[in-house]
Amino acid sequence: MTSAAGFAAYVVIGNPIAHSKSPAIHARFAADTAQDMRYTHLLAPLDGFAATVREFIAQGGRGANVTVPFKLEAYALADELTTRAKAAGAVNTLKFENGRILGDNTDGIGLVSDIVRNAGFDLTHKKILLLGAGGAARGVILPLLEGKPAQLVIANRTVAKAEELVQQFQSYGDRPGILSACGFTDAWQQFDLVINATSASLQAELPPLAASLFGPATLAYDMMYGSQPTVFMQFAAAHGAQVRDGLGMLVEQAAEAFFVWRGVRPSTDAVFAALRTQL
Ligand code: ATR
Repeated sequence: MTSAAGFAAYVVIGNPIAHSKSPAIHARFAADTAQDMRYTHLLAPLDGFAATVREFIAQGGRGANVTVPFKLEAYALADELTTRAKAAGAVNTLKFENGRILGDNTDGIGLVSDIVRNAGFDLTHKKILLLGAGGAARGVILPLLEGKPAQLVIANRTVAKAEELVQQFQSYGDRPGILSACGFTDAWQQFDLVINATSASLQAELPPLAASLFGPATLAYDMMYGSQPTVFMQFAAAHGAQVRDGLGMLVEQAAEAFFVWRGVRPSTDAVFAALRTQL
């Protein structure tokens, strides 16, 4: 089914939403892959997410990205969930097909694609430290485990939340011993990859991390991005690490959503470069 205008219609739904870069990203993907589709932003009232989605479906909408604060509501609204959406406990991609709502989550695979493909960092046998135990952290654990690291340590201010995540993901994969939880100040050994999935960077705050976590072979990845390196990136770089922000994750999660909807995988390099110059 297509919209009344003939093209396939997609939106990003959030509140607020005007700042979203997703329409520009998907417009470029659509042009590059010759897909007849339109992608716009859609503001949902804070108490009207489900109604907004259903109205969009009634108008012929084919899919939606979902952003703050609706990822949990999108999870609840879906008739079917992919394994990675179930693992994340949240949905960032909806596909409307045959009267049903499919819920998916491409955030985690977006992060891993950016780290593996774009940064050229192989996760196999690596020691990974994941900072944070909220929604952003939970969403990336399964794809990180699928990369077959030697170790995945989840560190959080509230250690009990990190322990809950370890309990929950213990059953995924064939090596339950690789997952563990701790507080920020309990981690001191050098890691190959340190991922900041806390929201501390939003307040320009830095979790209390040991300098010994970082070395020249460490990749320090912040899921946030902006015109300047985050305080986490500055701290890691000052202690010799290579650093990367989350702009590539944004572009890669969008490319994966595009693939879910259209069955075509767009190239991401040009979009990434264009966004970087606009920050
Ligand atoms: P998100 O969806 O972005 O993950 P969230 O679910 O509210 O948001 O989780 C925020 C995460 O950032 C949590 O791990 C939180 O730690 P707590 O579980 O102890 O609350 C972490 N966080 C937020 N502000 C922080 C700060 N200033 N220093 C360290 N950790 C912080």
